[in-house]
Amino acid sequence: MERYKELKSGDPFVFPGLEKQFTVVGYIPGGFNRIILKANCNGGTGTRILKIAQAHEGDADADQFKGKCGQIHDYQQSLQRLGVLTPSPITTHENVIDGKRFLLETSPFTGQSVHEMMLTAPRNDVLELCQQMIDVALKPIFSQNLRADGNLPCGVDMIPRNFTKDPGVMHYVDLWPPKLWLDGEPTLEYPEPMDTKVIQLGIFRHFTIKGVAQAFLVQLCRIRPELRREFQRLVDGALKGMGLHEELGWLQQQPARQFQNGGDLKQIIEPLGYEQIYGLREIACELAFQGQISAGQLERIFKDSHFQDTPLPSATILQIKEVLFH
Ligand SMILES: Nc1ncnc2c1ncn2[C@@H]1O[C@H](COP(=O)(O)OP(=O)(O)O)[C@@H](O)[C@H]1O
Ligand SMILES: [Mg+2]
Repeated sequence: MERYKELKSGDPFVFPGLEKQFTVVGYIPGGFNRIILKANCNGGTGTRILKIAQAHEGDADADQFKGKCGQIHDYQQSLQRLGVLTPSPITTHENVIDGKRFLLETSPFTGQSVHEMMLTAPRNDVLELCQQMIDVALKPIFSQNLRADGNLPCGVDMIPRNFTKDPGVMHYVDLWPPKLWLDGEPTLEYPEPMDTKVIQLGIFRHFTIKGVAQAFLVQLCRIRPELRREFQRLVDGALKGMGLHEELGWLQQQPARQFQNGGDLKQIIEPLGYEQIYGLREIACELAFQGQISAGQLERIFKDSHFQDTPLPSATILQIKEVLFH
């Protein structure tokens, strides 16, 4: 990865098997396990985004990596069939460089990150952006016929960072790792988590209407905690408008809402563990909305509650609860 991390504006971008010549024009920070570059195609067709992932060492991880190019295209096609707008056309390339296996995905540049826009936009513009994310991705994803196990066939990661907007059009840009089912198992991360609880939470967050809706709401509040009531109205409204009454009822019974509706914070927090980490995060958002914790504390809780392949230790859960109930 180092060779790609060090690229600067003006440097040529080389990847074996990539026919076109590119010149780097910028580095996009915030890529998650990938390096994201903005580049111009020499003598060609506009600005593209280059996303580079590297296979982990070890046979099992290397095996999982091998099918990923095809899965990226499958995932894009699934999203397109549902009507979710993604940058197009994309290309994928896989190759070994100095004994290390890399995957490159290229896509046309489709505008600024919605996350960035939300940070500074006036209230009404923020709400407009959220409504567009709902229309572009949330509604099409929720309109799928569910699998026999009750999960969504095509999953999604509804965070504003995964959306871009040029003045006119919003796109859902993140195809990595593809959120699909393979031989009855979900593809969630690269490498795939092994721990049952982590997998359960991954399915909840990416492949269930309840989890996708709650994770989306929480991510909006993370960026603009003061607009929580408006975000709640938007997400509730989307579920209601789609006739998803059971899911709406569930969202409205979440710990944060119980507290919001006058419940006792200590009693509400007490039974929550790692399995309810999104519930705990939502309480943090509600407390930030009410001004009971600071924006800094809220962000700290999000960082502390981030997990990848192992469940959060109970000490971390306790520590989060201490900040929530002070
Ligand atoms: N096609 C694109 N056009 C413009 N910006 C993009 C595009 N694809 C990705 N980005 C930017 O790069 C960031 C990371 O891309 P993403 O596909 O979400 O990668 P990751 O797997 O690292 O999350 C996004 O937040 C977005 O700002
Ligand atoms: Mg992303």
